[in-house]
Parts: sequence; C-alpha cells; structure tokens
Amino acid sequence: MPKKATLQKTKELQPLEREYQSSRGYWQAIIDCLDDELMVIARDLCLTQVNAALLKRQGSTTAKVIGRHCYEVSHGVTEPCQPPLCECPITRVWDTGKPVRVSHTHLYDTKGKSRVRYFDVIVSPLRNSRGDITEVVELIRDVTEVKRLEQQIREANQNLLALNAIASTVSQSLDLDTILNSALDKVLELMKGNTGGILLLDEESQTLSYRVYRGLSKEFVQEIDGLRLGEGIAGRAAQLEKPIYVDNISEDPRLTRSVVIKEGLRAFTSVPLRSKNKVLGVMNIASHKVRRFTAEDIRLLNNIGNQIAVAIENAKLYNEVQRKEEIRGEVLNLVISTQEEERKRIARGLHDETSQALTSLAVNLEAVIAILPSDADEAKAKLRGVQALAVKTLDEIHKVIYELRPTLLDDLGLVAAVEWYAENYLEAAGIKVHVETDGLERRLPAQIETALFRIIQEAATNIIRHANAGKTSLSLEFSETSVAVHIKDDGKGFDLDEVMRTKDSGRGLGLLSMQERAELMGGHLSIRSRPGLGTRIAVKIPIAQEVADGRDKGISGR
Ligand SMILES: Nc1ncnc2c1ncn2[C@@H]1O[C@H](COP(=O)(O)OP(=O)(O)O)[C@@H](O)[C@H]1O
Ligand SMILES: [Mg+2]
Repeated sequence: MPKKATLQKTKELQPLEREYQSSRGYWQAIIDCLDDELMVIARDLCLTQVNAALLKRQGSTTAKVIGRHCYEVSHGVTEPCQPPLCECPITRVWDTGKPVRVSHTHLYDTKGKSRVRYFDVIVSPLRNSRGDITEVVELIRDVTEVKRLEQQIREANQNLLALNAIASTVSQSLDLDTILNSALDKVLELMKGNTGGILLLDEESQTLSYRVYRGLSKEFVQEIDGLRLGEGIAGRAAQLEKPIYVDNISEDPRLTRSVVIKEGLRAFTSVPLRSKNKVLGVMNIASHKVRRFTAEDIRLLNNIGNQIAVAIENAKLYNEVQRKEEIRGEVLNLVISTQEEERKRIARGLHDETSQALTSLAVNLEAVIAILPSDADEAKAKLRGVQALAVKTLDEIHKVIYELRPTLLDDLGLVAAVEWYAENYLEAAGIKVHVETDGLERRLPAQIETALFRIIQEAATNIIRHANAGKTSLSLEFSETSVAVHIKDDGKGFDLDEVMRTKDSGRGLGLLSMQERAELMGGHLSIRSRPGLGTRIAVKIPIAQEVADGRDKGISGR
C-alpha cells in the first residue's frame, strides 16, 4: 500500500481505536493483569465475567465457567457458602449496597491430606448509569502465605517471650534448687501442663536422678532414681544430647521401668540440659492425657533446656567459689590463730626466761658493784657499763615481747593496749598521737580485739615507716552491734591503686593483711589516701548479737 494511503487509513482508525480501548477488551486486560482473582456475579449467583488469575487457579477456560454458580467455581461445592468458614458476602452487598469484606477458610483434600488455605474476599456493588446494582464484583486474595508468616512471627515472638521469661527466672538466683524449681514452674506454665521434672547427672556414677518435680508420685521419682545414660527415654535424650518426644510413653518399647506405666504417663518429652557441650541433666515434660508436642514445642523446650543448663553451670561454679572461699577463710583463720599462739608462746618464753635472767643479771651486777673495794674504780666502771647494757637489752626485750603479744591486750583490753602502743611507738618516733574512744567502751571477743590490735599495729608501723607524718589520730567507736576504728595521719599519702599494681614482692601485703583480718571477722576495711593528702583507714567489725547482749560471757573471757 502506498505510504500516503496508509496514513489516511490510520487516521480513520484512531477514533475506533479509542472506542476499542474503552471497550470490554480494554477492561478485560486490566482485570487480567491483577494477581488477585476476580469474578463478576449476577443476582442469581452466576458468573458473568472472570479474570485470568481465577482461570489459572481453576485450570479452566472462560467458556467453562461463565454462567456457572460462583460457589461451584470458587469452592467446588453445590450449595452456596455458609458460615462459619465461608460467610457469603454477596447477599449483604445486594441488601446494603455497600462493599463487604470477609475472610474465608477453604479446606482442600489433596491425596488424602487436608490442606487449609485462607482468602480475603472483597465484594463491591456494580451499578448502572441510574445507580442501580446490576451485578457484584468479587475480588479474592489468597492470604495463606501471609497468614503462615504471621503465624511464624507470632510463634517466634511467643518463643522469645518464653525464653526471656525463663532467662529472667533463672537469673534471679544462684541457688541451684531455687533455679530449678522456678525454671520448672515457668516451663510448665508455658507448656500449659502440670507434670514434669528436672533430672541431674551425677558425674561420678553417670546416672540421672530427679532433683525437682511436679505432678509425679514419690514412688515414681524413687523408682526412676539412678537412670543410666542411654536407659529409657530420658537416659537416651541425655546420651544422644537430643530431645526425644513420644505420644504415649506407656507403650514405648524403649521403656525399662514399669513404674512409668503405673504412673499413667502418656505424652512425654525429654530434653537434654547442655552447657558447653556437656550434658548436665535432662528436663522431662509429661502429660497424663494424650497430647501432641509440636516440633515448635520441642524446639522451644530445647532452647529453654540450654538456658537452664547455663544457669545450673553458673550455680555450680558459684557454689564452688563459695566453698573455696569458706575453706580459704578457715585456713587463714587457722594460720592467724596459730601465729598468735606462737607469738604468745615466744613472748612468754622471752619474758619468763630471757627477761628474768637479764633482770637478775642486772640486780647481781648491782650487788657486785656494791661489794667491790672502793679503789676498784676501773672494774666498777666496766661493770656499770655491762649493767647498763643489761638494762637496755631488757628494755628492748620488753618491746619485742610487747610487739609479739601485748600482755595489756589480754589483761586490760584493746583501748589500753592501743594507748600504750601509741605512746611507746608513735610518740617515741616523734609523731603526735591523739587517741579517743566513743560509745560503750567494753571488752570484746578475744578474736576481735586481736584483729583490731594487729590492724592498728600494721597501720602505725606504716605511718612510722612511710608516712613522714607529724600528727596521727586514732579513734575507737563502740556501738551495740559493732566496733569501728579510724586511723588518720597527715603524712605524704600514697596512690593505693599504684601500690596494689606493683609487683614488688611484699609491698602491699601489709595493707592486704589488714583487709583480710577485718573480713575474717565479718567486717570491712577501707583505705583512703592520696599523695600529699595523708591517709585514712576505717575499719568496722560487727559484734554478734549474743555477745552484744552480754548473753555469751564465755567468748570475752580469755
Ligand atoms: N600511712 C601511709 N602513708 C604513706 N604511705 C603509706 C602508708 N601506708 C602504706 N603506705 C604505702 O603503701 C605501701 C604498702 O604498704 P604495706 O602493704 O604495709 O607494705 P610495706 O609496709 O611492707 O611496704 C607502702 O610501701 C607505702 O608506700
Ligand atoms: Mg606495712
């Protein structure tokens, strides 16, 4: 065709083309591009129009579906839709003239397996130019996948909440039985059950026994005691380190203990409690009624099991540390009291033998000097020198004796011993001391007096050796339930962190020993010091109530 003629033809066709676009074909194209299924339904519920999505799902053709009832085509049933699964929205649209939205649940039977699909259905009225409803348009959206995802999110959320609840339950205590009891209660609450228990693995015998349980008879728990790894369901779960669940344990061939049948248990699940690849026990959740544990339940229980295992491990470690701490305290106490006894013995030995021998030496020398002839001046002078040496040595021996074990402490108590010590050591070293007491001054248990005296002794020695102080103050405060001591100096101070960090052998041990002694008495010692600003040491030791009340007379006696 010549070019000019073609153009002419196209021009003529343009209005027709526009008409075509507004025609049925154009609208069909629009409805066919929809992903959702669409049907146009007449008053008699017969289809007048459908889109490609519907034909595709039905595997049908337009010719085969037009004129048939919507319920036949859509659901393959011979009766109109009925509530509750499928409420028919169409009559409501005809009645009200308003769009209606409903959700439909369709059950399919494919190869003997029933499947469920969910649909959102929106039906809107189609009106003519006068505004009368002539037909309705039904839009059907398959929301099965969305529902499945929603369900998954809901379950994941519930699981997270459950795990969170367990985590906060088990983290509230470090006591093993408290943890296990509260964890079990929480799990049963989550599983909406009332029967179950936690068995722990005895490392030595490698057997499992119930530690906590609910809804099980005593007889059952006793009979199950000492379950070997690999034995029964729980033993297997522990050995395989995998959860096991059965619908009816009473009929399970793996059963080894008949008490399970007697107990009337049916649904049963056992999950290992694993921490750091080590099985610490198992958790059993059971039911006397038929019940199904879903794969989701088992996954959740398994995760909970891991959490409980971590809590068990923590509790065990904590107990171990506590036990070691107790042993350390006992050993330290023993060392300190042995040391005190030894000091006492040496002090007594020095006093009874050395100091008495020196005293009689000095006295005898005096006597010898007295009876020497008056012209023996040289001999007298020499003897006087020897006698002075004996007296001086005696003095030093007394100091040593006092350092070792001040008799004043035993005889007159802490305040007198501290006053004597301050005067003879601090004042003697040129440091002014102010000693003051406050409260109900009284004798305290020997252990407390000794601990406080040794702390003051160490603090005073440090002041003399390191502080370069001009003044110190020592205060002792007695209250009903405690005794507190404050030792202050105006010396050069020091950096406590730096002292504790240094690896100098021995440096810092004096400060540590003060702390240890206070803590052994159930008390507390704090050191505050800064270079240039002096040092303050505060100790507080509780006094047991029976002692404070004076009920226990024995303790304060020496
Ligand atoms: N009152 C004090 N004034 C200044 N420095 C102090 C005082 N007490 C302790 N120190 C510092 O703390 C260090 C640690 O004291 P300590 O543990 O008793 O060990 P040591 O006396 O054997 O050095 C001392 O070496 C000293 O530097
Ligand atoms: Mg020291």
